[in-house]
Amino acid sequence: MIVEAKGLKKRYNSVWALDGLDLAIADGEIYGLLGPNGSGKTTTILILLGLTEPTAGEVRVCGYDPVRQPLAVKRLVGYMPEKVGFYEELSAYENLRFITRLNGIPEAEANRRIGEALEHVGLKDVAQRPVATFSHGMRQRLGLADVLVKKPKLAILDEPTSGIDPEGAAQILDLIRRLRDEAGMTVLLSSHLLHQVQRICDRVGILHRGHLVAEGRVAELTAPGGYVARIGQASPILRARLEAADWTHSVEEMQPQELQVTLTEGGRAELLRFVAEEGGVILELRPKQPTLEEIYLRYFQG
Ligand SMILES: Nc1ncnc2c1ncn2[C@@H]1O[C@H](COP(=O)(O)OP(=O)(O)O)[C@@H](O)[C@H]1O
Ligand SMILES: [Mg+2]
Repeated sequence: MIVEAKGLKKRYNSVWALDGLDLAIADGEIYGLLGPNGSGKTTTILILLGLTEPTAGEVRVCGYDPVRQPLAVKRLVGYMPEKVGFYEELSAYENLRFITRLNGIPEAEANRRIGEALEHVGLKDVAQRPVATFSHGMRQRLGLADVLVKKPKLAILDEPTSGIDPEGAAQILDLIRRLRDEAGMTVLLSSHLLHQVQRICDRVGILHRGHLVAEGRVAELTAPGGYVARIGQASPILRARLEAADWTHSVEEMQPQELQVTLTEGGRAELLRFVAEEGGVILELRPKQPTLEEIYLRYFQG
């Protein structure tokens, strides 16, 4: 696990911003920490970065304790805050050069990384322009380039699409997914816009009043009703049959020979029959959680 938090609590005066948050993010995942405004997303992020201390609970980021080893965490983690700040009179290139100096990256290597990062985010042609002339969307992309030049193991992006029009937001999200796919970064992003970001997340956690009210794979949470099954000792034939069945929504290999299957209400008996015929062990069979749509209506509206 790249991120592990247990029983996190954070109190600001009389407000409990976090109230028993558990979080576990695996290597290479895009994890969406989603919740309405005020639910505790930014507080969680600040704790993971070692920028504020939890009132109670345990945190590990890349194996380090951000409270005691904040510098070790900073070296491995790239952070894009909700409001990215730049030196307005300096160019995009110069702003990034400033970051590489801060991180002690030698000049030749820095230039190579800056070139790559600007290319990735589509700002190469405007690299020499002062940031003062940039649109909000361009600033967000420069914020991502800022994270990229560090080549972090984990990128933490706080509301990366906030204030951007839907088209610009879609571009940023596609870019984030590409960076994960190509650079193998783990990504934790926060957002209050469930519908906008869910498509690029592998898993989401829904934060409400400082704790998770739902968590799961997007494929599982978007499927209507039905069941979730975990099957051990699954053969390739069983997997192929499940994938072909019209009563399964998704079939994912969680570990070698271990499958997680989401299925319709009516598929339950069929699943038991398939496992009886092909071998395998049902490790878990439970009703599915509420769908993202139901969660949206319950927590995000208004
Ligand atoms: N520095 C602070 N001082 C006092 N209250 C704060 C502070 N930061 C956040 N809060 C409160 O903590 C709660 C969670 O805030 P925050 O983590 O910023 O949520 P989100 O990022 O999900 O919008 C809110 O009620 C907010 O008002
Ligand atoms: Mg916030």
